[in-house]
Amino acid sequence: FPPPEDFAQQAHLGDVSDYEKLWQESQRNPVQYWEGTAKKYVWWETPWKQAFEWNEPFSKWFIGGKTNAAYNCLDRHLEKNGDKLALIFEAEDGRVENWTYKQLHREVCRFSNALLSIGAKPGSPITIYLPMVPEAIIAMLACARIGAPHSVIFAGFAASAIRDRVLDASSEIILTSDVAYRRGTKLDLLKTVEEAVKQTPAVHSVVVLQREKTAALTGVFKDWSTLIARASENHEAKSFDSEHPLFFLYTSGTTGKPKGIVHTTGGYLTSVISSAHMVFDLKKDDIYWCTADIGWVTGHSYIVYGLLGNAATCVLFEGALNFPHPGRIWEIVDKHEVSILYTAPTAIRSFMRTGEEHVDKFKLDTLRLLGSVGEPINPEAWMWYHRKIGKEQCPIVDTWWQTETGGMMITPLPGVVSTKPGSATRPLPGIVANIVREDGSSANAGEGGYLVIEHPWPSMLRAIHRDPERFKETYWSKFKGKYFTGDGASRDADGFYWIKGRVDDVLNVSGHRLGTMEIESAIVSHPYVAEAAVVGKPDELKGQAVVAFVTPKDSAGLKDFEKATAELKAHVAKEIGSIARPDEIRWTKTLPKTRSGKIMRRLLKDLAAGKEVTGDTTTLENPGLVEYLH
Ligand code: WT7
Repeated sequence: FPPPEDFAQQAHLGDVSDYEKLWQESQRNPVQYWEGTAKKYVWWETPWKQAFEWNEPFSKWFIGGKTNAAYNCLDRHLEKNGDKLALIFEAEDGRVENWTYKQLHREVCRFSNALLSIGAKPGSPITIYLPMVPEAIIAMLACARIGAPHSVIFAGFAASAIRDRVLDASSEIILTSDVAYRRGTKLDLLKTVEEAVKQTPAVHSVVVLQREKTAALTGVFKDWSTLIARASENHEAKSFDSEHPLFFLYTSGTTGKPKGIVHTTGGYLTSVISSAHMVFDLKKDDIYWCTADIGWVTGHSYIVYGLLGNAATCVLFEGALNFPHPGRIWEIVDKHEVSILYTAPTAIRSFMRTGEEHVDKFKLDTLRLLGSVGEPINPEAWMWYHRKIGKEQCPIVDTWWQTETGGMMITPLPGVVSTKPGSATRPLPGIVANIVREDGSSANAGEGGYLVIEHPWPSMLRAIHRDPERFKETYWSKFKGKYFTGDGASRDADGFYWIKGRVDDVLNVSGHRLGTMEIESAIVSHPYVAEAAVVGKPDELKGQAVVAFVTPKDSAGLKDFEKATAELKAHVAKEIGSIARPDEIRWTKTLPKTRSGKIMRRLLKDLAAGKEVTGDTTTLENPGLVEYLH
């Protein structure tokens, strides 16, 4: 699909030959491209002295430059856009709150002072465990403003997951709320945090946003509104080094321990503000809605920093997209006149399934651009999105990127790049991508291989917190000098990328990233369990479903496997959070292993997918087992 003509005519980047020139130049000289971009999109108090330093695998961008992320998202807009809406918040019950840039700025200043009053310091991480409410964004921006890196934990995670992340980050302050509202019920966030902080002795303050009733809080627990009532609304933002850490975000990897991905300030802002502007083709009257939670990188980059950095108006929704009726998402689009919608393939597939009558009740005529993120979008879902939601008028931007990349990497620019359903199309200007074979050589057109990035980019992760070895090993050891994404992909004759999904032991369930080892260690912590292996199986709705092969301890003397299955699923939800709950538990006497003792995951994957096991099983310790596992 070529860009619709009227769209191309009004687009920031609407001239194909200009774009081709820019793109080619950016491939030859990415640093020059990024310097221009950093000047154009980011406010700098002090300009940088050196644009880029590469000390493989450690990079620095805009060295010597000083800036402040919150200033970029708020203060610099006040003169021209102070009365413009920054946030339109809709609660699950339909209540709406509007926040102008002036109001948001005032509240962020106030909360910055509140944080300072309880001992927050530049460089000292603050944990945020909040639902999708304006205060979550206020909290993030206040942290950024005072130079305290935030570590946001998705509010669906369980107590032990909070505890591990708080300890790993050495965080002494937690920001949370009493409850979150979801599907007509209340989730008790405070109870979860209370449990977590029993084992985090360094935490001296838990600031609680009390949404239900104001109870008296004691010990380390402090009331949010009391703190801000005492705080001044004047706060002057101090600038920090471009490489000052802006946030940590924990994500799953191939071991049992989540990785604390570290992002810094100047380069990150350069990438997310410029990509939001170009990929969403942002105009001053756009109403933008990203349905992701701020607990994931999508919320960080394409609600908070990328969009507020452009003085855009964002819808923020606390609730489920299909509650209390299957068309809630479309109702919100009409109600707030959303012009740009950014959502996930899994959501699109679930709306395809619930039936078109729930879409037909709504006009959807304010939409002009659609986005997709989080997992490969299958062509059928792409076409449905195009036809049913976009009414064949809206370009679709399928944006490939990762927690580690900070910003979008491979995606169409809607005014100049044609789209093919199921392809994320081409790398953005400044992004030097490639598909390589096992030996590191470039794959031919149409040949599958590993997706790598061949030149550092400004919003690249700088580190895994406290684990430089793992940082090197995970991203920089497979292919010399290239960033390895962990994804498999191919590139067609037009240079378009087709992302196939993870080639490592990372699962993608409804666009959420889960480590198989993390789930395995939660499973084996249950007293019944001797051993476990977790694999993904293809799932029409969720992309992948979680299947666990589990061997019980003889001593457990299990007889009622149905009951044990239910208990084990609940156990994982309690240990990690309900997003990690296995869809299927398969009990087995032993797990298939090679003679050297490695679990044969490929075989288990085939079994889980219901495929015949055809691969080589000669190295299997116990070949009869294959039959047994059926
Ligand atoms: C993994 C990253 C991107 C922010 C949300 C997820 C998969 C993401 C796409 C896409 C195909 C995609 C990849 C990637 N992925 N977007 N448009 N097409 N695959 O961030 O949790 O860090 O996961 O999500 O497998 O490696 P994340």
